[in-house]
Amino acid sequence: MASSNLTAPKIRSMKGQKRIVCVTCYDATFAKLVDEHVDVALVGDSLGMVIQGLETTLPVTLDEVIYHTKAVARGLSKAHLVADLPFLTYQINDEEALRNAGRLVTEGRAQSVKLEGGVRTASAIARIVQAGIPVMGHVGLTPQSFHQFGGFKVQGRAEAAAQAVMADARAVQEAGAYSIVLEGVPGELAAKITADLSIPTIGIGASAACDGQVLVIYDMLGMNPDFKAKFVKKYDDLAARISDAISTYGAEVRAGTFPGDEHSFHS
Ligand code: KIV
Repeated sequence: MASSNLTAPKIRSMKGQKRIVCVTCYDATFAKLVDEHVDVALVGDSLGMVIQGLETTLPVTLDEVIYHTKAVARGLSKAHLVADLPFLTYQINDEEALRNAGRLVTEGRAQSVKLEGGVRTASAIARIVQAGIPVMGHVGLTPQSFHQFGGFKVQGRAEAAAQAVMADARAVQEAGAYSIVLEGVPGELAAKITADLSIPTIGIGASAACDGQVLVIYDMLGMNPDFKAKFVKKYDDLAARISDAISTYGAEVRAGTFPGDEHSFHS
């Protein structure tokens, strides 16, 4: 249950004091495992790619994010719970953005919501914040703009592009967000934005210059052997370990050595 100690204002006040640790999370079992080790658990729309096997996050629906957020809420007692607003749930107009953010809080039991974009989504952020829902921004390589960017490409390399990302980050802060994800931007730009803003920056593919880091949990645990990205460090090789465990189980069932007497009931 998300009766978390780590509120959005507490996360905001960590800037300059403590680095913020965030991972994505999609179910109650993982939520229980991450709870004591992270500050923030993010139900990202990356669930479309790692849970649903999609190529992008674009088809993920609000109901799907709510479903996963409810499950994660049941597993957390310490970490802050933030949930993503999926594509087209906040871009149509600010009233719809607020209604949908509200559903993540009331039905999903999220403590805050995350949405992508800066200058173009600042009014939606302001409307949601005015209603009392804390917002985490997300600028740089915003995956919901996959088609506009022509793929998952680092943003802000050229001077004009860097200025645009900086303007987005400032717009997010100005609109009232309590923190902001910087994704897929050069380290130099991440350092400038982090120094410029009074809210914490949480980086993914944005160097150690940020105030915190976020990774997709399936990526950092090495669950998908086919996924390789420069910004991901694999802290384990769970794909191999899970495969070994299931292979051993299969071999024992086929050999008749599982279940043993210790796994069987007797009259
Ligand atoms: O959807 C997601 O998991 C995210 C993180 C990668 C920041 O937005």
